[in-house]
Amino acid sequence: MKWKQLAVLASSAGLFFSCGGSAEKNAFTDLPLAYTVQLNETVLGIQSVADSLDVPWEICWGFDQRLWITEQGGTVSTIDPVNGIKKQLLQIPQVWRKRSTGLLGMALHPDMKSNPFVVLNYTMLKDSVPVSRLVRYEYRSDTLINEKILLEIPGNTGHNGSRVLIQNSGKIIWATGDIAKDENAQNLNSLNGKILRINPDGSIPADNPDPNSYVYAWGFRNIQGLALTDKDVLYAAEHGDATDDEVNLIQAARNYGWPLIPGTVNTSREDSISRKIAIEYPLKAWTPTIAPAGMVYYHGNISEWNHSLLLATLKAQSLHVLKLSDDGHQIISDSIYLGSVFGRFRAICASPNGDVYLSTSNRDWNPPKGFPVNGDDRILRIFTLTKEQIEENKSLIAQNALVSAEKLQHPGQLIYQQYCASCHKEDGSGVKGSFPALTGSPKVTGNASDLIRLVWNGSGREPQMPAFNFLTEDELAGVLSYIRTSWGNEAHDITAGAVRNAIKKK
Ligand code: HEC
Repeated sequence: MKWKQLAVLASSAGLFFSCGGSAEKNAFTDLPLAYTVQLNETVLGIQSVADSLDVPWEICWGFDQRLWITEQGGTVSTIDPVNGIKKQLLQIPQVWRKRSTGLLGMALHPDMKSNPFVVLNYTMLKDSVPVSRLVRYEYRSDTLINEKILLEIPGNTGHNGSRVLIQNSGKIIWATGDIAKDENAQNLNSLNGKILRINPDGSIPADNPDPNSYVYAWGFRNIQGLALTDKDVLYAAEHGDATDDEVNLIQAARNYGWPLIPGTVNTSREDSISRKIAIEYPLKAWTPTIAPAGMVYYHGNISEWNHSLLLATLKAQSLHVLKLSDDGHQIISDSIYLGSVFGRFRAICASPNGDVYLSTSNRDWNPPKGFPVNGDDRILRIFTLTKEQIEENKSLIAQNALVSAEKLQHPGQLIYQQYCASCHKEDGSGVKGSFPALTGSPKVTGNASDLIRLVWNGSGREPQMPAFNFLTEDELAGVLSYIRTSWGNEAHDITAGAVRNAIKKK
């Protein structure tokens, strides 16, 4: 089905049922199925419950049976998932949006009836300097009022984090980014690259690891996902550099290693650091990177996903289901769904009845090839199909179950897709002003040794390209041959031997 048709169908169904009464189930039943996923036993249906949004950065299930969303440009709205009706509660005029900055994380107080507080994080410019603000609003009859600034820390054009959570105790957890300054993460006097714990009035909780500091845990690069279990166990997902995206189990007063040891110990340098400094290692790390984003602890009626972390990914355009051990201290499996079907995923939440809501992020600064499509960005509802629904949708289910194994045109293409395409784009066209195009670049088609050394060492200056010195000679030769012979580039291949020589000579 074309997305345009889907969007039209979805909104007309919404309009129709918005006049109806309590028939929640019927309304959902009449939304078209956009996709299906066959698990071991359960068959999942996926519907679009809202569309044409502007990068829904956070989505939360509200006490009022509505979805609460932030959009990156600076608005907070509610969406009734049953009929798609969107209501804007707040627009924050001072929000500064550029690339990955803007209105980002949001959390609702777990007991909104007695404590009607909503915590938000956004970036703004103060005398032309970016800052990242944590604020609290009060919810009153469908508006948000009385902004109170809880904390303000340095911001940047990237690596601002940030996710926010409110614990059952009312304490606020704020995951900040290192603002692209590595040294912040290990500096306990900086509030960047940290997980902070804050009282609802902005003061420091007396039971923090250091009663004079907001810092709860440190050593982070750029956290984009935070999840809390029903027992207040905390997990964070963050972006690595060229390698090692991570999911960590967060404990008080621990050092999570950035930039000393990304991922786990795998070089002799990291080994010697690990003997001197106590560092917590991730439950799981991904190389090639996947760009993890929103994360939620799932405990619901999709039995195959019970007691898992559901992790949305941007770059990998997928949903990872990370099954936890009974004690939650290990990830025992990683299953991947919806790869490249809806584009990038940013935010995720679950409703008490076990449905999962997932937002796309195809209108952000770095859309993948073929996106955004008509109707982006959207919020998808993932739910268990009934026996009758499975019967009715047999052919769609069979069709979606066919795994389309990607045909690789070139042995270096897979490496390119995994390591380079997130910046230089799948077709080598780059991102204007950020990442140079590799099509028609003399650095690509020119001197082979210079090219090898550039990619091996990284650019080492702004704008930065990471070093790829962890690739094998064969892998580097493959990917460089691929970029020298693709998209109209015509230069000779690079052999593993040439890579070896060029690296040695430096
Ligand atoms: C995180 C983003 C990022 C990734 C991933 C990345 N690059 Fe780059 N690349 C850059 C940036 C930024 C520059 C510009 C550096 C400069 O001007 O100093 C660059 C420059 C280049 C250049 C020089 C092009 C020119 O005309 O200046 C080549 C060639 C290149 N990259 C190849 C690769 C290859 C091959 C990979 C994958 C193995 C890769 N890059 C992965 C960001 C990236």
